[in-house]
Amino acid sequence: MKKVFAVFGDPIEHSLSPVMHNAAFKALGMDCTYHAFRVSRENLKDAIKGAHAMGFGGLNLTVPLKEEALKIVQPDPLAATMGAINTVDFKCTVRGYNTDGIGAKRALVDAGVKIEGAKVLIVGAGGAARGISFKLAGDGADITIANRTPEKSIQLAEDVALVGNARGCGLDKLDELIADADVLINCTSLGMHPQVEATIAIAEQMHSGLVVFDIVYNPLKTKLLKEAEKAGAKTVSGVMMLVYQGAEAFRIWTDVEPPVEVMKEAVMGALRT
Ligand code: ATR
Repeated sequence: MKKVFAVFGDPIEHSLSPVMHNAAFKALGMDCTYHAFRVSRENLKDAIKGAHAMGFGGLNLTVPLKEEALKIVQPDPLAATMGAINTVDFKCTVRGYNTDGIGAKRALVDAGVKIEGAKVLIVGAGGAARGISFKLAGDGADITIANRTPEKSIQLAEDVALVGNARGCGLDKLDELIADADVLINCTSLGMHPQVEATIAIAEQMHSGLVVFDIVYNPLKTKLLKEAEKAGAKTVSGVMMLVYQGAEAFRIWTDVEPPVEVMKEAVMGALRT
């Protein structure tokens, strides 16, 4: 019988996960299907229970459900320290994982970054920054988190310091911080459609030794990535984080090697339409 997979969230209509996972299932000839469901925080417990009862293969969770899920599902150690779950597996017990940070890490490694010892500057201190900073700090990167509201980045850095090197600050010394960084990651929504001219930094602030990673993938080439190219820096698109977090979830649910190129093409195709 066809195995059903799903993403729960609210809003959910623009999720690219169905197109990405269905392309993967099709390419591998797996009798599986993936759908998006609008689920509110209040209904998450019932929805997870229902999916489990109906024999779903696995779930992804997105905004605003990732933190709420910790009260419902047994998290693995990484998801527990991050305080957020984006993947639920039903194989043995109902178990929660967080593949967001792993997705970001894979995208950076693809671009030739050696995580251990890398000086990583993360701008923003929301959920995305949390997932990425925990994973990279745990793998030996030296993390600086700069945020418009410094209280938030200082607090996040204190949490992250439990697993590695991290410090938090405001945006006032951004020029010096970028000059000193190996990797710059935008974890704010700046540059996202329709505010496509917004950017956390311009070419003059960047250098050619920098790898610039933007978690914003709509548009595919953000203002930040255009400016980074002008500075001679290497760029990494947010699409790759989306693809790799999905690929990791796919691996957890199915124990099958995910077809990363197929998943990437499916997402790029959907973004171009
Ligand atoms: P997510 O969970 O996707 O990371 P979020 O929790 O809303 O989203 O976090 C958005 C981040 O972008 C925050 O760090 C926010 O800064 P504040 O903590 O000061 O609100 C940052 N951000 C959003 N708009 C910004 C802007 N115009 N300039 C600088 N930072 C901005």
